[in-house]
Amino acid sequence: MSEPQEMTTPDHSELFHPSESIVENSNVMAYARSKGLSSYEALYQWTLDNNEEFWADMANELEWYEPWTKVLDDSQKPFFKWFVDGKTNIVHNAIDRHARSWRKNKLALVWEGEDGTQRTFSYHALNREVNKMANVLKSVGVKKGDIVTIYLPRIPELPMFMLACAKIGAAHSVVYGGFSEAALADRLADAQSKVLITADGGFMRAKIIELKKIADEAMSRTPTVQTCLVVKRTGHDVNMELGRDLWLHELMGLPIASAECETEVVDAEDPLFILYTSGTTGKPKGVVHTHGGYMVGIYATLKMVFDMKEDDRYWCAADPGWITGHSYIVYSPLINGATSIMYEGAPNYPFPDRWWSIVSRHSVTILYTSPTAIRGLMRFGEAWPSRHDLSSLRLLGSVGEPINPEAWKWFYGVIGGERCPIMDTWWQTETGHFMITPTPVVPLKPGSATKAFLGVEVDVLHEDGTSCGANEDGLLTLKRPWPGMMRTILNDPQRYVDTYWTKLPSMYAAGDSARKDEDGYIWVIGRLDDVIKVSGYRLGTAEVESALVSHPAVAEAAAIGLPHEVKGNAIHAFVILRATFEGSPKLEDELRSHVGHELGPIARPDQITFVSSLPKTRSGKIMRRVLKARAQGLPEGDVSTLEE
Ligand code: WTA
Repeated sequence: MSEPQEMTTPDHSELFHPSESIVENSNVMAYARSKGLSSYEALYQWTLDNNEEFWADMANELEWYEPWTKVLDDSQKPFFKWFVDGKTNIVHNAIDRHARSWRKNKLALVWEGEDGTQRTFSYHALNREVNKMANVLKSVGVKKGDIVTIYLPRIPELPMFMLACAKIGAAHSVVYGGFSEAALADRLADAQSKVLITADGGFMRAKIIELKKIADEAMSRTPTVQTCLVVKRTGHDVNMELGRDLWLHELMGLPIASAECETEVVDAEDPLFILYTSGTTGKPKGVVHTHGGYMVGIYATLKMVFDMKEDDRYWCAADPGWITGHSYIVYSPLINGATSIMYEGAPNYPFPDRWWSIVSRHSVTILYTSPTAIRGLMRFGEAWPSRHDLSSLRLLGSVGEPINPEAWKWFYGVIGGERCPIMDTWWQTETGHFMITPTPVVPLKPGSATKAFLGVEVDVLHEDGTSCGANEDGLLTLKRPWPGMMRTILNDPQRYVDTYWTKLPSMYAAGDSARKDEDGYIWVIGRLDDVIKVSGYRLGTAEVESALVSHPAVAEAAAIGLPHEVKGNAIHAFVILRATFEGSPKLEDELRSHVGHELGPIARPDQITFVSSLPKTRSGKIMRRVLKARAQGLPEGDVSTLEE
């Protein structure tokens, strides 16, 4: 293992230019030329000046059952509507139109199991499977407008069930397979799902994750669930409750699971999915995305940023259970008619070269991953990737958190052979698609997501809404609406307004702090709210704290994120115990496991410190900022509101 790398301050002047052939052959420059423009900068400016025309051009590359009458309706902002009156279905563009074209025999999905099993689906085969699943969903009573909760491991049935829901006009709510019972139960209850889809279990490092068992516990708390469809993955014994639980493979063999299924005509603004994400309070937000605008936004961004070409073999190594997977594993690659790779297991299983072996065996041309994964694999040293032929790669990508220049350079040099530009894409569950990102023609600065995507306007502002000067820290904001934007928070439209649209005048406040350098490049610093990004996953401090407080020994708790070499941030919790309990390493372990059990393994604090008091404001709010400074031995800043 090589020595862990120091995290240094990024150098704002270092530039990496793309090769001429990349620029010449890029989708984005082809589009610029079609508009009579010869530079990317001119194209960007054109997309701001002709914003609706730009997004309409993108929408017109897709098929609609009935055309829209208006590109953008901003009369009820911040409840924006896109492609008003347009009738479509994202599945029509993701599958139907390809299954009817020459692409029917093209591979849509190549799946590799952790044990080496491979399953491949052409667009024709994917269409058949999704139709059968859609008919199964109908047979258990799922209708347009319902919300179906999906809790599956990383197997092909996960994207296929998402598509099957969308096909019949039902919204899906995917709960990440690494979440535990309480997180699943909360999400089931908020969505009022009548149908839950799960599996007997999943594999991770050859161990079985007991998904059905967790689902059983969650369902015992959520009486709305009437039917549970179970996919067989591991084959181990699970409890099947008569009248509620049904094996998918049994239903798929019945005449009800016909391979023909009409795609439901939906309105552009009909909901496609709900995806829960952490915020400032303990209750996760059900972010709502729709068919029309989302479909256009994810299509255009992948096409332009990852320069999708017909012969690409594209691999986004995220989990379909997160927004990255929704947009860029499931929907957008299919809309783009691509061949997409999906891998079930851990990056270093059975050895630290598993990913590099996948890249070489599947001739991957585009690899999109996270800084955490890059840093994690970098630690094993160059010998592992150097055993494999990675020459098929032509573009790389990063998402989820700021990438430190050391990791960027390792990815660029060792994995990309100094040949492949890195698309560092900044976006959020809420934005639906890339907002700040290079395209392959943009000179790169390691550690910066560069500039706004076409048609998107970004700025860094002071709290009063005025622009920050060069290299001044401020609030990251998006100054105009975009098609894939979230439409609301399920059951709580006021929280949507309050969280995103009241902090800055008429602008979207992203909740991140950032800096713009003298060349206009954006450097994202991190979250401003009480959200910790652990390995790129969003966790609310409030969620971790309420999990801790649910343990009988804990009276009060505060959670903070501290810098971590691989994970970006690690959770450090401060705990006040109830009078009859005493802190010990054993109790510390027990509390860590308790949080893991309540929220899922990613939320386990790395460290727990037992304390007798917590720094609070006079109004009783925990000052996490002070805890963080103390833990790092840094100055505590303004403590005038501190209670003691
Ligand atoms: C962070 C993930 C720096 C940011 C798609 C944002 C990033 C939050 C980047 C959203 C990036 C995402 N550089 N920071 N390229 N991409 N972030 O909803 O703090 O899981 O607000 O969406 O991740 O996280 P989410």
